[in-house]
Amino acid sequence: MKFFIDTASLKDIQEAQDLGVLDGVTTNPSLMAKEGIGGAENVNNHYKAICEIVDGDVSAEVISTDFEGIVREGEALVKLHKQIVVKVPMILEGIKAIKYFSEKGIRTNCTLVFSAGQALLAAKAGATYVSPFIGRLDDISTDGLQLIEDIRVIFDNYGYPTQILAASVRHPMHILECAKIGADVMTGPLSAIVALAKHPLTDSGLAKFLEDHAKVNG
Ligand code: E4P
Repeated sequence: MKFFIDTASLKDIQEAQDLGVLDGVTTNPSLMAKEGIGGAENVNNHYKAICEIVDGDVSAEVISTDFEGIVREGEALVKLHKQIVVKVPMILEGIKAIKYFSEKGIRTNCTLVFSAGQALLAAKAGATYVSPFIGRLDDISTDGLQLIEDIRVIFDNYGYPTQILAASVRHPMHILECAKIGADVMTGPLSAIVALAKHPLTDSGLAKFLEDHAKVNG
C-alpha cells in the first residue's frame, strides 16, 4: 500500500519524507488555508515546493465547479510539475472533466467520494485515483471502511485500473484496516503514520535492553 500524507505543511511533508516511507502528498483548499497559503502565485509556488520534497504524486485541487473552469485550472496545474495530479470534486461537471483529462493523459484524483456509486462513476470516467473519505463517514455514524471494501469488490469485478486512495484517515487503525482490505493508497496526517511505530512493549523492551547493556558497559 502506498502512503500519502494529507497536508500542505512543508515541515510535516519533510518529516514523513525523511522517514523514507512517503509515496505522495494530497492537499485540499482547507489544508492550504490552514498553512496560510493564498493567492495564485503563492499557491503554485507551494505546490512546486511540495514536489521538490517528495518523489511521488502530489494532488492539487481545483476550485472551479464548472467543466470549463475545472479544465482550465487542471491544465494550468499540471504544467507546474510532472508530479501534479489534478484533484477534481465528485460532481457531474467534475466527471465530465475527469473523462476529458483521462483522454488527454492528465492524471486525476476524484475527491469527496462518499458512496460506491460515486466511485464507480469516477472509475468509468477514467480517474487515476478515487478518494473515499472514511473518517468523515465514521463521523456521521456510517462505516467508512465498509465503503473501501465495497469499492475494492467493484473495481476488482471489472478490473478498473483506478486506484482506491483511502482518504480522511484519522488514526493508525484506519491505515491497518485499509491495508487488510487492499486499498491501493492511504492518505493521512503525519500523526497517524508515526503512530504505526508505537507500542508500549517496544518502549519498555528497549529501555530494559539499554539498562542491561549499561550494567556491564558503564
Ligand atoms: C483527501 O484527499 C482529503 O484531503 C482529506 O483526506 C480529508 O480529510 P479530513 O476529513 O480529515 O479533512
